[in-house]
Amino acid sequence: MPAQIIDGKALAQQIRAEVSVRAGALAAAGRRPGLAVILVGDDPASAVYVRNKVKACADHGIHSVLEKYDAALGEAALLERIAALNADPSIHGILVQMPVPRHIDPHRVIEAIDARKDVDGFSVRSAGELMSGLPGLRPATPWGCMKMIESTGVPLRGRHAVVIGRSNTVGKPMALLLLQADATVTVCHSRTADLKRHVQSADIVVAAAGRRRTVTADMVRPGTIVIDVGTNHDEAGKLCGDVDFAAVREALGPAGWISPVPGGVGPMTITMLLVNTLQAAEAAR
Ligand code: GUN
Repeated sequence: MPAQIIDGKALAQQIRAEVSVRAGALAAAGRRPGLAVILVGDDPASAVYVRNKVKACADHGIHSVLEKYDAALGEAALLERIAALNADPSIHGILVQMPVPRHIDPHRVIEAIDARKDVDGFSVRSAGELMSGLPGLRPATPWGCMKMIESTGVPLRGRHAVVIGRSNTVGKPMALLLLQADATVTVCHSRTADLKRHVQSADIVVAAAGRRRTVTADMVRPGTIVIDVGTNHDEAGKLCGDVDFAAVREALGPAGWISPVPGGVGPMTITMLLVNTLQAAEAAR
């Protein structure tokens, strides 16, 4: 029997229903939550992502503004726009879609955003809050993965979690969130000598390597929870994750859990961005 599916779309819908309620309560009190999304340049994938973010806001009672700029926009001009949004009381979250053009320093951009409005959770301060176990805005993708793991009902305390990938946006914050939940955490990456050995001893695997077929059926034990963060394309151009889904699902058996691509982490990422925007709006005075 194959593993159970962690349905990111269904879980996202549940959380989004709560978002609508909380956004409605804020709006009724004259404090409608607001998100500003800035896109610099004409990367087609980024254009799709920001459109989806803005649409999700509209669908759940969150005010949003989308500012699109030519790829030639100077860094100083972008920092000026961020300063204006920092001072705008109708805006509680500011997101600059990454990647930005090469002449702009992404770190300078992220650090220019008021920490209270850092709904991506990418700033040094937000990262420090996560690392220190302080309250703060958590990066949406790993936070969404945590919600998916929690949805299985399997307790994390004392379990071995293996994170594959060490990016600042997914792998590293994922490892910290799992640690905070009392898991024992191993972080693997492209230079890890024997990935299979680590994954074979895992109770939870979060695959965020950015390479398809990173996790194959011979690597997993029955009963493991597998979360697939990958967004790759197969030979036929079809969207796929980092996990060899059908074979791994079979190998995990009925006690295992697996998230699909599409329909897994993707819908959760935008949902947690909405939750962060609400959290920032609720904290604003
Ligand atoms: N580019 C790809 N994913 C993200 C994200 O979560 N936030 C931002 N700002 N840019 C991205």
